[in-house]
Amino acid sequence: MSLYAMIRPMLMAMEPEKAHRLTIAALKKGLGPRRHVEDSTLRMKLWGREFPNPLGMAAGFDKDAEVIGPLFDMGFGFVEAGTVTPLAQPGNPQPRVFRDFANVSIVNRMGFPGRGLEAFAANVAAWRRANPNPPGVLGVNIGINKETKVPFEDYKKGIEKLAALADYIVVNVSSPNTPGLRDLQAKDDLELLLTGLIAVRNSTGHDPQLLVKVAPDLGEGQRAAIAGLALAHHLDGLVISNTTVTRPPALAAELKGEAGGLSGALLKDISLEVLRDFYRLTEGKIPLIGVGGISSTDDAYARIRAGASLVQVYTGLVYHGPRMVEDILTGLGKRLRDDGFTSVRQAVGADNAPPARKEAV
Ligand SMILES: Cc1cc2nc3c(=O)[nH]c(=O)nc-3n(C[C@H](O)[C@H](O)[C@H](O)COP(=O)(O)O)c2cc1C
Repeated sequence: MSLYAMIRPMLMAMEPEKAHRLTIAALKKGLGPRRHVEDSTLRMKLWGREFPNPLGMAAGFDKDAEVIGPLFDMGFGFVEAGTVTPLAQPGNPQPRVFRDFANVSIVNRMGFPGRGLEAFAANVAAWRRANPNPPGVLGVNIGINKETKVPFEDYKKGIEKLAALADYIVVNVSSPNTPGLRDLQAKDDLELLLTGLIAVRNSTGHDPQLLVKVAPDLGEGQRAAIAGLALAHHLDGLVISNTTVTRPPALAAELKGEAGGLSGALLKDISLEVLRDFYRLTEGKIPLIGVGGISSTDDAYARIRAGASLVQVYTGLVYHGPRMVEDILTGLGKRLRDDGFTSVRQAVGADNAPPARKEAV
């Protein structure tokens, strides 16, 4: 029996954030599992970077970049640490994370608690020093402080501090728990923000890829506008999606009134549809990271076939534990080969040919 299997009942009985703190502490102590699925079919090159597999840890799990190494040891091909804000801040009052066991879902309104950019960067730098040949790709997710007046300045600080340390940087404009944040997804605001941040990235002398993480609750027009911006400004990628502020009827009644973002199984169909739409809108030209409700090989493979080059998980890991990483990857390699693919890349968008490709066949 794995350590996780033994302690799972205890973790599930605990207040969710306490369970999370304990998990992080255990991982820091080296008590996490070590599992690697070696499978050449899963290896991939994207942005000139080598991914041992396309499954990543989503943002929000390792907010202070404390357990990057242990997450790679779990078998992830890439890790996205953060969201980090320039200054340390406490986040929203607790309780602020709520489980819906029956629906394998979570509502959270954390509000970017964390130790701030200095501590985060020091942790990433320490991990880099200890891992001159890193086992996978490291992304960081940057946000803004609650009290900030000029969001651009906060993102700029994040990029300037982390450009030398991160392989890719995600501009988070989609968390529902920082007032005004999601408004930055409006076309003109986003264009101004992105052109500014691309210039900041270019001025650092480093070349981390720059991505934007979007909400699943965007209307059709907003999606088209963001896809257009991504194409026009040669954005390196989009992360699709963050949590939803919608409340599907199936959600546990006692959670319907809790403010925050919904993740997990109840988000799955929503984020899959948004991803599918963005793949079409960006004509398959922009790498997409699919995230939201993924907890099985089927889920991950469907996301890839809908257009994701990479996929991430968070809530699934909370309910199913670290074994899920190995299970997803073992199944994914097999599924790809069964369908005649020799690489992940060949399967990307297989169910969702963009219009240009459709016309060609
Ligand atoms: C407790 C919790 C905290 C999160 N914090 C962040 C965060 O800081 N930044 C971010 O971009 N996404 C955050 N997310 C969203 C996840 O990265 C992911 O986009 C979302 O949960 C959907 O994936 P999932 O259904 O696999 O969890 C958080 C999610 C949860 C459940």
